[in-house]
Amino acid sequence: LNNGLALTPQMGWNSWNFFACSISEDLIKETADALVSTGLADLGYVYVNIDDCWSAATRNLKGQLVPDPKTFPSGIKALSDYVHGKGLKLGIYGDAGAFTCQVRPGSLFHETGDAQLFADWGVDYLKYDNCFNLGIDPKKRYPPMRDALNATGRTIFYSICEWGVEDPALWARGVGNSWRTTDDINDTWASMTTIADINDKWASHAGPGGWNDPDMLEVGNGGMTYQEYRAHFSIWALMKAPLLIGCDVRNMTAETLEILSNKEVISVNQDSLGVQGRKVYVSGEANCLQVWAGPLSGNRLVVAFWNRCSKAATITARWDVLGLESSTHVSIRDLWQVIKLTFQLVFWLKELKLRLTFCVRRRSYQKVYQVYKTASNSPNTL
Ligand code: GLA
Repeated sequence: LNNGLALTPQMGWNSWNFFACSISEDLIKETADALVSTGLADLGYVYVNIDDCWSAATRNLKGQLVPDPKTFPSGIKALSDYVHGKGLKLGIYGDAGAFTCQVRPGSLFHETGDAQLFADWGVDYLKYDNCFNLGIDPKKRYPPMRDALNATGRTIFYSICEWGVEDPALWARGVGNSWRTTDDINDTWASMTTIADINDKWASHAGPGGWNDPDMLEVGNGGMTYQEYRAHFSIWALMKAPLLIGCDVRNMTAETLEILSNKEVISVNQDSLGVQGRKVYVSGEANCLQVWAGPLSGNRLVVAFWNRCSKAATITARWDVLGLESSTHVSIRDLWQVIKLTFQLVFWLKELKLRLTFCVRRRSYQKVYQVYKTASNSPNTL
């Protein structure tokens, strides 16, 4: 959608994956505080998105949506003021049907009034879901909200949550800033890998202004291991997926924060070229040894070696699967080589000059490389 937003995939947090309907204005405020205090906001995670269940069960007598008076007693305007005061942006959730998925009022046929209300509240982002859609074609239900948001004069990110039912990559580019390509993710390796494979099929439709959305991150929610979450984050970054944190950022482990804070992996996601990386090579039993890759700005590539088998393995990426000439020379760096301590100890022992270099690496299991094309000599596989 050409509204000046989503030049790179959106980054932020969303309440659904961890909290579902257990949300409140205090949670949203504390989350905004935590995004700032952990440094995540400075890394680009700026959208604080309230998902389903913020609304009361019915509209008011004027036909307007109202926040649940028990959980959001101060209202959404007060909340957006708070979030904006932290330098962040506020997102809200609605539905292109009669009801939201948790049976709160939907916005179908109320687009103009609801969009104006969101704008008046200072909302910066709308996630627009697909439940209770009365069987009406999404190509008819989603554009009216785009037009209504546009008519408010406020710039509001428009996230289409249509679950890929009607192949949104084929129609949603001119409608929204991102579009879901799959069913809901859950906090398992099976769900995450299945979703990555489906989202990969739509790669050619992504680009600045509109992104394929394989759903929000599960990193930190407990159902996968550290290595699995790192693979999840790496592939989402490489696929130019929205990076919407789905855990409780008020109570993260150091490892969760470390994954979400990897600046170089984030910069792969936010690269200005905006090309979705793809699965480019598979081998092994059930194709569980994989290479995913894509171009980056500045004559660089990102390459992920993804071992989805149950044991350790060597994965080889040939130059041709990376789209490189066989004569290409490159320099590489491992973006997960998080602790690179090079201690250079120089000992002067009388006449003997001894120089020791220790290079301490940890956790280089799922490797994600940035490849720089250079003129130096190097072998033509990684
Ligand atoms: C759908 C969406 C989810 C979430 C829930 C809320 O399932 O796909 O991301 O928003 O609704 O009810």
